[in-house]
Amino acid sequence: MKLEIYESEHHLALALASAVAGAIRRQPDMVLGLPTGRTPIALYGELVRLTCREGLDWSRVRTFNLDEFVGLSAETPGSYRSFMHQHLFAHVNLAGRHIGFLDGLAADVEAECDRYERAIAAAGGIDLVILGIGANGHIGFNEPAPALASRTHRVALEDESRAGNALWFGGDAARVPREALSMGMATILNAREVVLIATGEGKADAVAAMIRGGITTELPASFLQLHPHVTVMLDEAAAGDLR
Ligand code: GLP
Repeated sequence: MKLEIYESEHHLALALASAVAGAIRRQPDMVLGLPTGRTPIALYGELVRLTCREGLDWSRVRTFNLDEFVGLSAETPGSYRSFMHQHLFAHVNLAGRHIGFLDGLAADVEAECDRYERAIAAAGGIDLVILGIGANGHIGFNEPAPALASRTHRVALEDESRAGNALWFGGDAARVPREALSMGMATILNAREVVLIATGEGKADAVAAMIRGGITTELPASFLQLHPHVTVMLDEAAAGDLR
C-alpha cells in the first residue's frame, strides 16, 4: 500500500481532486467507483471547483456508487443518491445514463444486485474506486462479519454504522435505515486502482489496523492489502496511530 499523509483534509482533497481530473483527461471514458460520507465532501467540492475553472469534461465518464440504503428512493433526503446529486452530479456534465446506482426501492433485491454487477462488467470494470472507511473498518457497506460477501448484496447495518450515518437523518440514528445494498469485496477489489481516504482521529484505529494488522473479515478494509494498486490518503489525525 502506498501511504500519503496530508497536513489537512483540504490538502488531501486538493491532491485527490487533481489526480482524478488528470485521470479523466488521460482517459475521458474512465469508470469511477464513488463513495458517500462526510469524508469525500471536500473532494467533491474541489472536483466541482476544478470542473468550473478548467472545464473538465465528464460527458464520457461513467460512475458506480458503492452503496445505497434499502427503502429510500433516489429523491429521499438521506439517500446516497441524493447526496451525490447535491455534492457532484448536479454540478458536472455527467450523462444521466452514465451514472450507476443501486436502487434502494428495488422489489427484487437479488435481481437488482445482479443487474449492478452486470452493468459494472459491461462498462469494462471499474478503473478507479475511491473508498472511505467506517470506524469499524467497513468499506462500502461491507460490515465486519465471520464471512464477507464477494459480490453486490443486501446487508444488515451495524449500530455503529447507523450511528455514523445519523448526520444524513437529522442526527437521529434511529431514522437511519437498517439495511443497505453494497458492492461486495470482490467487486471492489476487482477495480484496477483503489484510493482510500480517511480523515479525523475517529478513523485512526481502523486505519492502523487496516495497514498494520492481519487480513481479517472482522476488518473488511484489511483485504485491501491483497490489492496491487492501493493508495491510502490520510490527514494527520487519521494517521495518528501509525506514528
Ligand atoms: C458510510 C459509507 C461508507 C463510508 C463510511 C465512512 O457508512 N457506507 O462508504 O466510507 O461510512 O463515512 P464517513 O466519511 O462519513 O466517515
